[in-house]
Amino acid sequence: MKILSIESSCDETAAAVTEGRQVLSSVVASQVEEHKLYGGVVPEIASRRHAEAVAGVCRQAVEEAGCTLDDIGAVAVTYAPGLIGALLVGVNFAKGLALSLNKPLIPVHHLRAHIAANYIAHPDLEPPFLCLLVSGGNSLIVEVLDYTHFRVIGRTRDDAAGECFDKSARAMGMPYPGGVHLDKIADAGNPDAYRLPRPTVDGSPYDFSFSGLKTAVVNLIHSASQKGMEVNVPDLSACLRRRVCDMLLENTLLAARDCGLDKIVLAGGVSANSELRRRMGDSCKKAGYALWYPPLSLCGDNAAMVGAQAFYEYAAGHLAGQGLNAAATMPIEHPTF
Ligand code: KG4
Repeated sequence: MKILSIESSCDETAAAVTEGRQVLSSVVASQVEEHKLYGGVVPEIASRRHAEAVAGVCRQAVEEAGCTLDDIGAVAVTYAPGLIGALLVGVNFAKGLALSLNKPLIPVHHLRAHIAANYIAHPDLEPPFLCLLVSGGNSLIVEVLDYTHFRVIGRTRDDAAGECFDKSARAMGMPYPGGVHLDKIADAGNPDAYRLPRPTVDGSPYDFSFSGLKTAVVNLIHSASQKGMEVNVPDLSACLRRRVCDMLLENTLLAARDCGLDKIVLAGGVSANSELRRRMGDSCKKAGYALWYPPLSLCGDNAAMVGAQAFYEYAAGHLAGQGLNAAATMPIEHPTF
């Protein structure tokens, strides 16, 4: 069955046609250039741009898949979590489309979709496995029990890893989204140049806390400027990248050991980070764990991953009616369906 999927949770309007784990087309209209002007995503602008783009992006996805709307067996949509106004555009468009085509509507949790990006890239990957899910808005360690059952092992208590990268990068003068720029600039820096804290969460060894790290970076920048000096941007980037990766790596490997899982999967925008991939690869090799991560093209928001997860949600009977609503927050384990 061909599924037409729609993604509009943040600043990419995306549509894809998939069949099982196979991607027939995937179209992404990014708003990044516009939000760059403001140093971050402006929710009101995001909603408006989604409303303008969604119909065209869906039309293009169907055309590029070499089919027509008559060939579409179900419509899937990201309904949570994300920017509420942005999500509502996709949800309402998908509801209208499913109603007019008289086809089932499949609600997809955005974070489940990020994990499913790996199913597209790795046809042999099957749960159970442990997933480090790190994006601009979320940082979780999740036990993926099967395709639609999840257990959160660890989570951030404050900022997400991507937010820590983006806000620190902005303070260092890099454009939005800073994480990707910081990753490149860090290659030229000395990761021992600055001392940054290594925050831990008392009594919760798998949980993260990134806000203190971000504040430490901002404080270093301010105290340098008060002395009429400037921080060394490549050095500070390298220190921050190493510290964030230390935290992600140590907690994930500890969770894998304690849960008895020897398959580790990375997902979300921050899984594009070069140091995270390299060091996780080295550590997994040493520990005898198998490691999977998505290709760079599937790390960020896209609708192909929504389609891959929708395939499993449909098989599990997780369908929505016209009463489907968007939600800004929603735990990955307990969707409303
Ligand atoms: O998954 P995503 O596209 O959006 C959310 O669902 O949040 O993730 C975007 C995040 C941003 O914070 C961006 O800076 C970060 O992923 N990111 C990176 C890299 N590429 C993207 N962070 C670190 N290193 C990268 N190479």
